[in-house]
Amino acid sequence: MASLRTLLGVVLCSLMVSSSEILPQADFDLQAMAGKWYRTGICSDGQWFVSRKANMKTGTAIITPTEDGGLELSFFSLINDTCQKMENLANKTEVPGKFTYKSRHWGYVSEMLMVDVKYDEYALTYSFNTRGNETFVINRLFGRSLDLSDEVQEKFRQFCLQTGILPEYTVLLPKSVECTLA
Ligand SMILES: *[C@@H]1O[C@H](CO)[C@@H](O)[C@H](O)[C@H]1NC(C)=O
Ligand SMILES: *[C@@H]1O[C@H](CO)[C@@H](O)[C@H](O)[C@H]1NC(C)=O
Ligand SMILES: *[C@@H]1O[C@H](CO)[C@@H](O)[C@H](O)[C@H]1NC(C)=O
Repeated sequence: MASLRTLLGVVLCSLMVSSSEILPQADFDLQAMAGKWYRTGICSDGQWFVSRKANMKTGTAIITPTEDGGLELSFFSLINDTCQKMENLANKTEVPGKFTYKSRHWGYVSEMLMVDVKYDEYALTYSFNTRGNETFVINRLFGRSLDLSDEVQEKFRQFCLQTGILPEYTVLLPKSVECTLA
């Protein structure tokens, strides 16, 4: 068992990419990202995720490009039958497809990359987050619909592995009733 684990560790490490190797989607088109998305998957190596992952469900994200090349991110999710809204304003960086924001709700500073986007189908994002002396990765899978192909879901699982997140911390979220406050 120990040797299997070592072997698995070696395999995982050889597949892993460091955050500096992760690049945004080539020719990133911010306007094409606009509109409504569903968050359908999430994975994280953060401590916060351990107790929360079992209760997370799909949610709705509205992306609105700002005039200066950043984006407004509104996220809606149903928590204990209450529709909760979280809003963040992300600044653009010198790298197209890379943004930075401070989470108003959680207080972490996030560097977010649009890694793999098919604008009418799915968007896979990577974020590297810092809060105090704690750093953690969150990858998210967004879809234009709640039902993404097996191929896209597999792409997400593989990306989580490559960024060092264990399979038990990779969640394709159960569907929730949609909520958006007017
Ligand atoms: C939701 O309800 C559960 C069970 O009543 C409770 O333990 C949990 O803290 C609640 N979550 C939030 C975010 O209010
Ligand atoms: C985003 O830009 C605003 C205005 O320039 C600035 O005040 C804020 O600190 C920036 N946020 C981040 C996380 O860099
Ligand atoms: C991180 O910060 C917290 C609170 O400030 C502190 O209790 C903890 O020891 C620090 N951890 C490390 C690894 O420095």
